[in-house]
Amino acid sequence: MTTATRLGNVVTRLSFGAITSMGLLALPIAGSHPAIAQSHGPAALTGIVSSPEEGKMEGVVVSAKRPGSTIMVSVSTNAQGQYSFPQDRLAPGAYDITIRAAGYTLEQTAATVQSGGSTQLDLRLAKAAPDILALQMSNSEWVQSAPGTPRQKLAVLRCLDCHGLQRPFFSKKDASEMAFTLQRMTAHTANASPNFPFFLQNASEILSSPPTKGQAELGAYLASINLSSGETWPYKLKTQPRPTGKSTQAIITTYDLPDQAAPHDTLLDKAGNVWFSDFQHHFISKLDPRTGKVTRYPVPVSKPGFPTGSLMITMDKDGNIWEAMMGQAQIAKLDMKTEKVSIYLAPDWDKGDTRFTMIDALNSNVDGKLWTKTNGGPDAGHPNKLYQFDLATEKFNEVLPPAGKRDIAAYGLVTDLDNNVYGLDNNPDQRQIWRTNAKTGETTYIDLPLGVGGGRRGHIDSQNRLWFSQFHANRYAVYDPKSGNVAAWEVPVPYAGAYDRRRHICVGRRYEHRSGSAAQCGNRRMELLSPAHLHQYAPYRRAEEFESQHPLQHVDRRPADGQNCPY
Ligand code: HEC
Repeated sequence: MTTATRLGNVVTRLSFGAITSMGLLALPIAGSHPAIAQSHGPAALTGIVSSPEEGKMEGVVVSAKRPGSTIMVSVSTNAQGQYSFPQDRLAPGAYDITIRAAGYTLEQTAATVQSGGSTQLDLRLAKAAPDILALQMSNSEWVQSAPGTPRQKLAVLRCLDCHGLQRPFFSKKDASEMAFTLQRMTAHTANASPNFPFFLQNASEILSSPPTKGQAELGAYLASINLSSGETWPYKLKTQPRPTGKSTQAIITTYDLPDQAAPHDTLLDKAGNVWFSDFQHHFISKLDPRTGKVTRYPVPVSKPGFPTGSLMITMDKDGNIWEAMMGQAQIAKLDMKTEKVSIYLAPDWDKGDTRFTMIDALNSNVDGKLWTKTNGGPDAGHPNKLYQFDLATEKFNEVLPPAGKRDIAAYGLVTDLDNNVYGLDNNPDQRQIWRTNAKTGETTYIDLPLGVGGGRRGHIDSQNRLWFSQFHANRYAVYDPKSGNVAAWEVPVPYAGAYDRRRHICVGRRYEHRSGSAAQCGNRRMELLSPAHLHQYAPYRRAEEFESQHPLQHVDRRPADGQNCPY
């Protein structure tokens, strides 16, 4: 089979409506409000949500959207089953009302919000048919429901780098067909998705040999938990409990983005605009959350035929926006004064699959330099390259790790208050993080005394401590360079995939809501997620709040021999 035929069968076979809808950007409570809403004044629209099975229901997400609008507001019901949209969140007018409560549905419903008054609308939910429940299931609910060993489940979590788990779980492919699918997955670039099926340069080579033993084994496992042997799944579909208490007080505003935008990272500027990188389109993008207007600044393409899109976004001391432009092997700068975009190519930009992933300019005021890194470069023993980029001379300087420690992988790159940089490697077997000194270029390694789990993203607090997530280990941790101590918390939701982005802990699968892009805890209480999966994110808290509410405890759940991860 050629790549094209293999692709042809599959790209648009499944449609999951809201579950895979692309291009959603959601901000829980913008502006200066606390992350958890306390009191919002009189209600514009309120009512009781109930069902014959449960009576009044807590933790049901109720969403209101004007027909034709790109902005949707969501609230949750409290312990009395009551939802309430504050008047400052819903202008007078007609709204479509939808809900999220796994296992339940609401018939098509509309409401009219009157000016000054309070509209009362009670909602009666019906039990969802089993096939509807399957469409409502989130990724972590699929992983929890399916039988399997920890190692098998870890392998499935990795699929989420590019798309949701509906694809494998709804597939009718048998073990051998699935092995070919898995092989093809390894031929895609890291930022591929079913909408943007980018391939690696050596894809044909990968696809020309038979699937590996590992792919055959995983294929057999997936065929045992998908629809290849029947009309329904051979296990019970288990959903997670709905949010309760304080978790029901968040208000989430969701913004539809144009052109199937695939937001990856976000940043808030002083004027309240949300800047975001797009994992697949070659733009620096801005959302005005007051109006929903999106402005996209095109970035020139340097390598036609190579994947477009960007990963990490950052801001320098002058407020300019910078992005790591992935497969085009550039970093891009948007000058805030002139609104002009400039690009800077990696020293080895034209070799291999060199791509810029990480960039941090937040502390560039210290020495006039930003930190950035590439991977996928031509040197097999040294695929990860760390650079200091001088903002004045616009030159890259590669900072080499110590001899014998050539490879400095990192998915998270975090500068501290002195503009030294930490590297967090997301490999589930990783037991260390590293730090490079901005002045001397010396790299040191810090052991994680908590067993394996790698690090994902992180941020620095005002005491110069590094807060970071351990995605595969389902933990959230803090490293204090003064004492050298690392402390960690277990994340309360299993298979949640802890994430961190600047002062907020995001608990929940990154890709719950959509294929192809990341859900994300953005800079200052932003994350990308759909209210459809709000329940996954409910336990997230501001880092400080988390610290004060959870007794500090060191966790050590070392996996049994031969296992990667403590599940
Ligand atoms: C690097 C990105 C990437 C990763 C990782 C990835 N996929 Fe995919 N997947 C894609 C893309 C792109 C498509 C659509 C194009 C295609 O089918 O190749 C797709 C399509 C699919 C499909 C539908 C097509 C078919 O052949 O049935 C299935 C099933 C699937 N993936 C399963 C998986 C599983 C299981 C994993 C994890 C073990 C996984 N994918 C990991 C990118 C990825």
